[in-house]
Amino acid sequence: MTGRLALVTGGNGGIGTEVCRQLAGAGYRVVTTCMDAEREGIAQWQADLARDGVEVGYVECDVSDFNDCAAMAQRVEEEHGPVDILVNLAGITRDSFLHKMAQEDWKAVVDVNLDSVFNVTRHFIPGMRDRSFGRVINVASVNGQTGQFGQTNYSAAKAGMHGFTMALAKEGARKGVTVNTVSPGYVDTSMTAAIPEDIRTQIVAQIPAGRMAKPEEIARVVVFLALDESGYINGANIPVNGALFCSF
Ligand code: CAA
Repeated sequence: MTGRLALVTGGNGGIGTEVCRQLAGAGYRVVTTCMDAEREGIAQWQADLARDGVEVGYVECDVSDFNDCAAMAQRVEEEHGPVDILVNLAGITRDSFLHKMAQEDWKAVVDVNLDSVFNVTRHFIPGMRDRSFGRVINVASVNGQTGQFGQTNYSAAKAGMHGFTMALAKEGARKGVTVNTVSPGYVDTSMTAAIPEDIRTQIVAQIPAGRMAKPEEIARVVVFLALDESGYINGANIPVNGALFCSF
């Protein structure tokens, strides 16, 4: 056991579940946020994990709402103690070509995927700085690096996440607080299952690996960044995309 506490926003989703599972397996205490525990079936989700010996707490929170995040942060710290590892993972898509995009689809995606990173992180950074240890891991997307048809909202939000990462990494570097981005490619989850089938086939055909990632292949990078020993990796954007997009 590391004894350290990890908070994962949207940890009950496809990638999130594996992140929670692997963090717990590496000895972290883990709490997830969700919007509505009953509607999202959190009790069943916890029971499924518990069958494998994985215990994950939860707290309800709308990550797009700053005040709700403040209340969530207070509750997590009261019930579980200080948060050492923060994984900003909650995200949604509302895909549409820009010439057809409704303003609410722009706003919802930017609020949940980008504003949330401020709304949540803002409450934990002071404590991390005071304790001289923190890990913030922002889960973005290859589509924030390349842009994607139908995703001006999502690509902008995910690109913005990494700007946040780079700036905050500099602020925390002398305080033991690292901030990094993981940029997954296409991962086999309900989010990619929602892509129209013909387009999905077209996308997979463009991935040099010839397949989507498994959620556990993303989670292992998140856990690596969380480790105490990863303290000199800071401000990085780590791609996990099957060679879909290579850069240097
Ligand atoms: N590559 C090439 N062409 C594409 C394309 C793509 N990725 N996406 C759309 N097009 C083309 C279509 O083939 C079509 O071409 P034709 O007119 O020649 O037939 C044209 O654009 C219009 O497409 P649609 O008929 O599908 O138009 P639409 O308005 O009904 O829908 C869309 C447009 C919303 C972009 C839809 O195509 C779509 O959902 N595309 C997938 C977008 C996507 O990749 N989302 C990723 C979700 S997963 C995720 O985001 C996780 C992550 O981090 C990676």
